[in-house]
Amino acid sequence: MTTIIDGNAVADDIKADLESSIDALADAGIKPGLATVLMSDDPASETYVSMKQRDCEEVGIEGIHVEIDPDAPAEELYDTIDDLNSDPEVHGILVQMPVADHVDDREVIRRIDPVKDVDGFHPENVGRLVAGHDRYRPCTPHGVQKLLEAYDIETEGKDVTVVGRSNIVGKPLANLLLQKADDGNATVTVCHSRTQDTAAKTRNADIVVAAVGVPELIDGDMITEDTVVIDVGVNRVDADNEKGYELVGDVDYDSVEEKASHITPVPGGVGPMTRAMLLYNTVKAAGIQKDVDVDLH
Ligand SMILES: NC(=O)c1ccc[n+]([C@@H]2O[C@H](COP(=O)([O-])OP(=O)(O)OC[C@H]3O[C@@H](n4cnc5c(N)ncnc54)[C@H](OP(=O)(O)O)[C@@H]3O)[C@@H](O)[C@H]2O)c1
Repeated sequence: MTTIIDGNAVADDIKADLESSIDALADAGIKPGLATVLMSDDPASETYVSMKQRDCEEVGIEGIHVEIDPDAPAEELYDTIDDLNSDPEVHGILVQMPVADHVDDREVIRRIDPVKDVDGFHPENVGRLVAGHDRYRPCTPHGVQKLLEAYDIETEGKDVTVVGRSNIVGKPLANLLLQKADDGNATVTVCHSRTQDTAAKTRNADIVVAAVGVPELIDGDMITEDTVVIDVGVNRVDADNEKGYELVGDVDYDSVEEKASHITPVPGGVGPMTRAMLLYNTVKAAGIQKDVDVDLH
């Protein structure tokens, strides 16, 4: 019997658990603040940002939203980041990626004060993570770890295959699972577009994480019985419905569900966790910046 991992329920628990940390900050006269910055007219990016702002309101985080014309010079975005870096009411800054083509996204990431980098993408935070003393874990990989923990899925001594090596999902997740820690201690294989025989690597795994961006790439033939399958992918594919599209993951749900011990649905799996962990990082950031113990690690 396959267990369907309920990301919405776990995310709700995480948000409920944040209440005591937000109360501790309120006792010190602080309301955590998250600034979202959008420099794009991509409808998906607009939706993501508005969902993040809604999440802030739900848990009692001050949401600040800045929109920059995608045709504006890159300096306008850099200046905005500088202003947010020095704003004491802003504890977390998230620049929605991708930004306009003429903007250097690496410069954007480097420009954010590392202590306000709640995405965890700044090189200082990446270095800390790799070295094993992380400050902010990137939201999606951290969300995957929290899902595994919520379902008592141990990673210690397990073979984990992560398909995808992006800086936002695959690489940080592989690093986290490799850490000498209770939620790490895995033997990790990372696959990418040049990997020879990805299926052999996924068949060898106790846990498969798909973060590829290719609809339904991982199918039932690529896993063995009782594999835990975490689907990070969110892909828009054409559909005969009102919107003209539907969302599918990187996993072929039907064939994998027949064999897997656990599977995350799309939507309703990793997505809500990413959003919850952004709130978590923002509250943690406020605690760090205002020297309040918010009891988040
Ligand atoms: N649920 C969420 O909250 C959430 C958050 C972030 C991303 N996502 C979704 O997760 C997916 C991945 O996102 P991303 O930002 O990590 O994507 P990305 O930056 O495009 O990276 C994709 C990775 O997959 C690898 N890849 C591509 N085709 C492959 C193949 N046939 N076999 C093996 N590896 C292959 C690429 O290899 P190379 O490095 O060699 O190019 C790359 O490392 C997307 O669908 C995205 O929308 C979801």
